[in-house]
Amino acid sequence: MSFKRTLVTSALPYANGPVHIGHLAGVYVPADIYVRYLRLRGEEVLFVGGSDEHGVPVTIRARKEGITVQDVVDRYHYLIKDSFEKFGISYDIYSRTTSDIHHKFASDYFRRMYDRGQFVEQTTEQFYDPETQEFLTDRNIRGECPRCHAQGAYGDQCEKCGATLSPDELINPYNAVNGNPLTKKATSHWYLPLDQYQQWLEQWILENHKEWRPNVYGQCKSWLDGGLKPRAVTRDLDWGIPVPVEGADGKVLYVWFDAPIGYISNTKELCDAQPEKYGNWEKWWKDEDTRLIHFIGKDNIVFHCIVFPSMLKADGLILPDNVPSNEFLNLEGDKISTSRNWAVWLNEYLEDFPGKQDVLRYVLTANAPETKDNDFTWADFQARNNNELVAIYGNFVNRALVLTGKYFDGKVPAAGELTDYDRQTIEEFKNVKAQLENLLDNFRFRDAQKEAMNLARIGNKYLADMEPWKLAKTDMERTATILNLALQIAANLAIAFEPFLPFSSAKLRQMLNMDTFEWEQLGKTDLLPSGKQLAKPSLLFSKIEDDVIQFQIDKLEATVKANAEANYE
Ligand code: MF3
Ligand code: ZN
Repeated sequence: MSFKRTLVTSALPYANGPVHIGHLAGVYVPADIYVRYLRLRGEEVLFVGGSDEHGVPVTIRARKEGITVQDVVDRYHYLIKDSFEKFGISYDIYSRTTSDIHHKFASDYFRRMYDRGQFVEQTTEQFYDPETQEFLTDRNIRGECPRCHAQGAYGDQCEKCGATLSPDELINPYNAVNGNPLTKKATSHWYLPLDQYQQWLEQWILENHKEWRPNVYGQCKSWLDGGLKPRAVTRDLDWGIPVPVEGADGKVLYVWFDAPIGYISNTKELCDAQPEKYGNWEKWWKDEDTRLIHFIGKDNIVFHCIVFPSMLKADGLILPDNVPSNEFLNLEGDKISTSRNWAVWLNEYLEDFPGKQDVLRYVLTANAPETKDNDFTWADFQARNNNELVAIYGNFVNRALVLTGKYFDGKVPAAGELTDYDRQTIEEFKNVKAQLENLLDNFRFRDAQKEAMNLARIGNKYLADMEPWKLAKTDMERTATILNLALQIAANLAIAFEPFLPFSSAKLRQMLNMDTFEWEQLGKTDLLPSGKQLAKPSLLFSKIEDDVIQFQIDKLEATVKANAEANYE
């Protein structure tokens, strides 16, 4: 590896609602798997996240609920942070874009680019509400759809016929909040001249990063083929970071300008607080030996591959090495939607399935939408828990530990001579380390987890074929050898699954009384010395019954019904 350290970021979720399984599957679990894997390997790695607290969505939420925007972002920032913690998403820092450090950092960033003449200023006519004296964002403008003539189409889209619109096309546009008719008024904004970056981006992405995932590369290519245009990086809005230029009153930085800078300001916040542990922020953002990886969902690709890199380039910072974006996860065959409440919210899952965070992590990775959209169903959730986690991984570990307790007082028995079958089994899992590395290094988490589960399958089959519970009656020496090997496989499982199922690994590690726990040990059969006392075994996973699943399905059906009634009214 030619880099010295890795900086991993995960998209900053909007603090306008809780996070759901789609977020977890697409961004946060993959990022966490990757970070945990690098840490296990002893790499220098930093994992940075936070909440995206600016933009229009939080202001809409505040209006709807009749509370202040600050109340909205406070509420959801802490809720989201708590959900991530409980799911073991192991951030080094999870901060927020309303922090003072971020406001100053983003403001200075803009000002540096402004002073260097890296923006172009342009005046355009925008929709304006003369009564409230405010400019309106696309989403806050409604009117008659020019295509299907439905009333109440949005400035960016008609929900009736699905047409993508611009506010100018709407017939009789009005303010969505108060119904006021709108006029046009001139306003000036600063634009990032992406056209000037076009050539450089073509070289950097299309020539130098052919290894990026096809969905990411393909989206970049189509943006570039279409020709890049200047993009406004300021807005007329009263929520956000004020534009640090004289005469720019009432203007704030566009949320997509300040949010990705949050990756940097959050790094700085952490480094400033613990410089001896993390060094300074420049080390992470200016040194070419740092490898930067952005984990995002597919609706974020253009910002992370085209807009933000142009900003990074403008300020002389490092560029992302890879942007492993996922596709979308559907729920029971339907697109996950916050407004239709069609989702499994993490905070609700935690209430309904206490202690089962690893089960959801497992299922979401097994179904990860890495190359195409994928579907989450409760039936699949139950089946994967019962038939894989319980029946294979959990069952194997439990058998090995219980039998060791029964025949060897819970001490690791010494292995005697190996049979051909033992050697064959060892041969089968010897390569797990290289295989896992190859997959994880290439962001193929789904296949990597399959590989880890395969190791449990090998162990399960070994015990089932050897039947040490029968042998124990006649041949204690052979029983000892078999259980020794089974326990070594269990120790391998604790390491192999750590990036995926950290809670179960911690539990297993405790049961196996392992104090060292290194990636380097994978594939070996000397992880547990003979004579080592093991702890009392307990179950890693437990069966999920039909009624529990039915409860979740009923909940979704109630949502469908509620939505239908709401539409009817
Ligand atoms: N809040 C955005 C979203 O949820 C993501 C922002 S990522 C960042 O789609 F780069 F801007 F931080
Ligand atoms: Zn329409």
